[in-house]
Amino acid sequence: MKNLPRLALAPVFAAACVAAFATGAQAQGQAPLKVGLMLPATGTYAALGDMIEKGFKLYVQEQGGKLAGREIQYFKVDDESDPSKATDNVNKLIKRDNVDVLVGTVHSGVALAMAKAAKESNTLLIVPNAGADAITGPMCGANILRSSFSNWQPGYSTGVVAAQKGYKRAMTITWNYAAGQETVKGFAEAFEKGGGKVVKDLTLPFPNVEFQALLTEIAAQKPDVVFAFFAGGGAVKFVKDYDAAGLKKSIPLFGSGFLTDGTLQAQGPSAQGLFTTLHYADSLDIPKNNAFRKSFALAYKQNADVYAVQGYDAAQILGAGLAAVKGDFAKRDAMLAAMRKATVDSPRGKFTLSAAGNPVQDMYLREAKGENNEYRAVAVKALADPARGCKL
Ligand code: PHB
Repeated sequence: MKNLPRLALAPVFAAACVAAFATGAQAQGQAPLKVGLMLPATGTYAALGDMIEKGFKLYVQEQGGKLAGREIQYFKVDDESDPSKATDNVNKLIKRDNVDVLVGTVHSGVALAMAKAAKESNTLLIVPNAGADAITGPMCGANILRSSFSNWQPGYSTGVVAAQKGYKRAMTITWNYAAGQETVKGFAEAFEKGGGKVVKDLTLPFPNVEFQALLTEIAAQKPDVVFAFFAGGGAVKFVKDYDAAGLKKSIPLFGSGFLTDGTLQAQGPSAQGLFTTLHYADSLDIPKNNAFRKSFALAYKQNADVYAVQGYDAAQILGAGLAAVKGDFAKRDAMLAAMRKATVDSPRGKFTLSAAGNPVQDMYLREAKGENNEYRAVAVKALADPARGCKL
C-alpha cells in the first residue's frame, strides 16, 4: 500500500516526458538528418566534387556539427560525372539509404537525372554546382533548389563583357553537353545583343581533351575573341594547349570563370592574365569572404574556390530551412518556403533565390593573377536566370 501513490504518479510523469519531447526538446530527440552527397570523386570533375563536400561540411562544422539542432549523417555516392549511371546512383541514396536530402552534383547531365528522381520521389534536392538550365526551368519544383548558378548566367555575363570590350567576331569552344551548349547560348545572347556575332561554335565530346584540330581551326579563322567553357581537369589542359599553340598572344581567350577556378596552380603561366566572369572571385574583399577563406584554409590546408563556396552555401540554405521549423523536417512546406525566402550570407556576397529556386546574384569580372581569380568589377548586377519554362 505504501508504494501506491508513487505508482499512480508514473503515468503523469510519462505524459510530461512525452510533452517535453514533442515541444522544446524536438530537435535533440530526433534521429540524425540523412544527407546524401552525390558528387564526382573520379574523373575530370573529381576535384570539384571534393571542394563542394569540404565546403558543405565546413558550414556544418561551424554550427557545431549540427543544423538547427539536428545531427547530420552523410551518405556518399561517386557519380563519376557519368549520366548513364546517374539514375542507378541517385536511387542508391533515395531508395537504399533513404536520405532526407540530396546534395548534388557537378555535371549537368547527371544533375538532370537527379532532378527527375527527386521530383518522382518528392525528395528535397539542393544542387551545389550543375548549371543545367532545365533544373530551374521546365523541371523546376518546390523541392528543388540551387546554391550555384544556371549555365545561362556566367555565359550571359561574359557575353556582356566581351561586347563591351568592342569585340565583333567570336568563336566558341566547349564540350558537347548541356553545360557547354547552354553556357555558349548565354554568351551568344548577350554578345549579339551587344553588337557582336558568333561566327562559329566548336565542340568535342565530354570529357575529351584532344583540342589540337580545333585550335588549328581557331588559328585559321582568326576571330577577335574566343569564348570557352571547360572546367576541372579539362580546363587545365585546354588553357595550356591554347597557350602552347601560340594563340594566347594573338586571340584573347574569355570564358565563364570555371575555366580558371580551382585550376590556376596546375595551369601555371598559361592562365595568367585571363579574364573570366563568375559569381565569385577569390579576392572579393568583404568580411564574409575573408572569414570563409581563413576558416577553409585552416580546416583543409588549401585555398577555397567557387565550388567550396557553393557547397558551403548549399549547407547554409538547408540550415535556413531547418532553423525555420526548429529542425522538424516533417514541417516540409514551411521548411521549403523558408529556404526559398532565405537571404544567403555567402562568401560571394549576399544573395536570394528566385521563385524558380536559382540564385539571383552579382556576376564579377575577374583576372587570373598568381593563384587567385582577382576581382576587377561587377560585370552584371543581380543577374537572374530567365527561368524559361518554369511553372510553379
Ligand atoms: C555542369 O556540368 O553544369 C558544370 C560542370 C562544371 C562546372 C560548371 C558547370 O565548373
